[in-house]
Amino acid sequence: MRRYHVTTFGCQMNAHDSERIKGLLEELGLGEAPSADDADVVVFNTCTIREKPDTKLAAYLGEAAARKREHPDRVIAVGGCYAEAQRERIFELYPAVDVAFGPGSIAHLGEWLGAGGHGVTRGRFGLDDRAFAAELPVHNERAFQAWVQVSMGCNSKCSYCIVPSVRGREQSRRPGEILAEVHRLAEQGVKELTLLGQNVNSWGRDLLPEIATEFGELLRACDAVEGIERIRFTSPHPKDFREPVIAAIAECDAVCEHVHLPLQSGSSRLLKAMRRTYTRERYLMLVEKMRAAIPDVAFGTDIIVGFPGETETDFLETLEMVEEVGYDSAFTFVYSPRAGTEAAAMPDQVPHEVKIGRMERLVELTQRIAGERNAARVGRVEQVLVEGPSRTDPSVLRGRTRRNTTVNFTGSARAGELVDVTIDGSTSTTLRGRQESLVMGGL
Ligand code: 5AD
Ligand code: SF4
Repeated sequence: MRRYHVTTFGCQMNAHDSERIKGLLEELGLGEAPSADDADVVVFNTCTIREKPDTKLAAYLGEAAARKREHPDRVIAVGGCYAEAQRERIFELYPAVDVAFGPGSIAHLGEWLGAGGHGVTRGRFGLDDRAFAAELPVHNERAFQAWVQVSMGCNSKCSYCIVPSVRGREQSRRPGEILAEVHRLAEQGVKELTLLGQNVNSWGRDLLPEIATEFGELLRACDAVEGIERIRFTSPHPKDFREPVIAAIAECDAVCEHVHLPLQSGSSRLLKAMRRTYTRERYLMLVEKMRAAIPDVAFGTDIIVGFPGETETDFLETLEMVEEVGYDSAFTFVYSPRAGTEAAAMPDQVPHEVKIGRMERLVELTQRIAGERNAARVGRVEQVLVEGPSRTDPSVLRGRTRRNTTVNFTGSARAGELVDVTIDGSTSTTLRGRQESLVMGGL
């Protein structure tokens, strides 16, 4: 049997695309190899959001090309966002690559690899030719948790971001198709869904006037599906948290009290240059509204430091904002110019040392605040979805709270169970605890 191996870079959308790539290759009769070294078809599903994944890929491809010299029939396929961004040059940059394809063209992978994985041809790309990968078979990596793609592409114009040019305009998947998949997953025993879209909470707007719906309604429909205990969604845009979405998060039992709310910058001047379409004040109002509507809500965020023109004053506004909101978790990024984006051509690029210095200060602050937020959970009982043994200590279990914090705890539950855990310790990224013993009513 011919075997494949997929290496995935980037976000959850890409990880989900990899599940589709694997599902498709398995349908073609290939089996999964434990490593790229043992595979006949080696796939890299790439990311290009910042420069770092680009350089990482170069190293991986260098290794794969060297191994291919020893095994000339080995097929190297490169998919995903970097492949799409470099569609004109990819075969020149990396002559060992046999097949390349964009994130919209996964469905065609089989044709290019040839039935059964033989007869390799050079692939193509296709923003013009996008098909919903969501209808392809899935190789589900996790039994109790699943990603569900609700839309693809993005209509925002954030000036730093390459994604709209590689994933195209937004296209929502029809509600009937999404719900059919959710029902199927629930029947298979899935308890936690993560709804995925590049701009997930603007879902549905492009279906108008044919279908009048919005993201809040989709949350309610998923919440009503028997067996689905938890619903998460990523990645949302603050501009699209309208009232019905907030109400749905507040009222649906399964929708978790965790909102990822990408800030990017605390300076209204920079937010404008980033084309984020909200100000610092509007963002704060949204946070207040959500805190009032959703008891005990946890906020996560994404922040960029060193955007072109960022002054010390702008940066201090970001730090202030981090204190004011009190994020439970934060992903922090050094601005990375991406060819073809508006911001890459802006004057006043921030010197590298300044970016690094600000990044260190920001990380220190976000960690201190996350540490305080986690410490405040000590003594509480949290509902935890068990994921398996802890990564560092196999005698301890690992799971996540509804507020999306990882908990390592002592207990005897199985993966996929929902248990109550008393929290007795914390760090800036994790909680520690012990499973509550079951108290039988009346005994
Ligand atoms: N440089 C640095 N960070 C970026 N992001 C997007 N584009 C860039 C870039 N050019 C960050 C944003 C986004 C997250 C997924 O990646 O914070 O929310
Ligand atoms: Fe990377 Fe963005 Fe593509 Fe995800 S959508 S893989 S983060 S470039």
